[in-house]
Amino acid sequence: MKVFVTRQIPAAGLDRIRNVCDCEVWPDRLPPSRDQLLEKSAGCDGVLSLLSDRIDAEFFDHVGPQLKVVSNFAVGYNNIDVAEADRRGIAVGNTPGVLTDATADIAVGLLLAAARCFREGIDNVTHEQWKTWEPMGFIGQDLVGKTIGIVGMGRIGAAVARRLHFGWGMSVLYTARSEKPEIDDQFNARRVEFSTLLAESDFVSIHTDLNPQTEKLFGDETFAQMKPTSVLVNTARGGIVDQQALHRALQAGTIFAAGLDVTEPEPLAADSPLRSMGNCVILPHIGSGTVASRDAMATIAADNLLAGLNGQPLPHRVAA
Ligand code: DGY
Repeated sequence: MKVFVTRQIPAAGLDRIRNVCDCEVWPDRLPPSRDQLLEKSAGCDGVLSLLSDRIDAEFFDHVGPQLKVVSNFAVGYNNIDVAEADRRGIAVGNTPGVLTDATADIAVGLLLAAARCFREGIDNVTHEQWKTWEPMGFIGQDLVGKTIGIVGMGRIGAAVARRLHFGWGMSVLYTARSEKPEIDDQFNARRVEFSTLLAESDFVSIHTDLNPQTEKLFGDETFAQMKPTSVLVNTARGGIVDQQALHRALQAGTIFAAGLDVTEPEPLAADSPLRSMGNCVILPHIGSGTVASRDAMATIAADNLLAGLNGQPLPHRVAA
């Protein structure tokens, strides 16, 4: 079986693939270009893709009808046209459940960093502008007893709620497609309308997937409904936030600060004004970046790939 792995991934998964497949791995730290992705994948029976690889009808046409499986090294799969894969009988896999805590930790870290002015503080120290203790400087927002609004109460949303409810005594509001009685019981949480969440939350953390309904869900109108003291955290997908509207909101003081692990595009454009906003903490999409999470992602991605190649059900298959 011929497979293309579009980037180096941990040996925990790669070795399993190499043992049984004719496997080419993209050697660079940067992803293959579109042309390189198409060229290397052509004729393959399986492809192990990353969230930066666009897998669509053009890709499937180019790779050929022998393609059985695309295994995404991520829980999110908005880079893949799953409906098109379904139509062609190509199985698509993802890696859920193994990056929940790692990503929740980054969400809480960003919340704290943005609320307590880490970026301004670090910039101040780094650029040798720190002259003295400032009674009126670097004044942030309190966390204890405040309200966290979770947009999308899945596994990661629940892990964030757990940390903030039990760690900082926060009240929990959330949006979700259906009732979550177990969440309500565990965290004394309340499922509310999106507009209520925006109006009542001190912190808003995004944990929904990117789809046509959530694309640019956070824009000028959304920010206008949030508290001027509020902090927005996004560890889901950059496309859920309109970056220009976010810049306007941060500059005008419509909201207090933001913490982003994801942007659109990634990396953020070199001239993006968000890069220089002191009240915007930006990380390079490191939510799943722990040894255990990445090893587990590699293992699941390999298992999905091998199952698909062998015509077996994928341990973690996604469908449109
Ligand atoms: C995912 O898995 O979707 C994350 O964004 C990257 O690990």
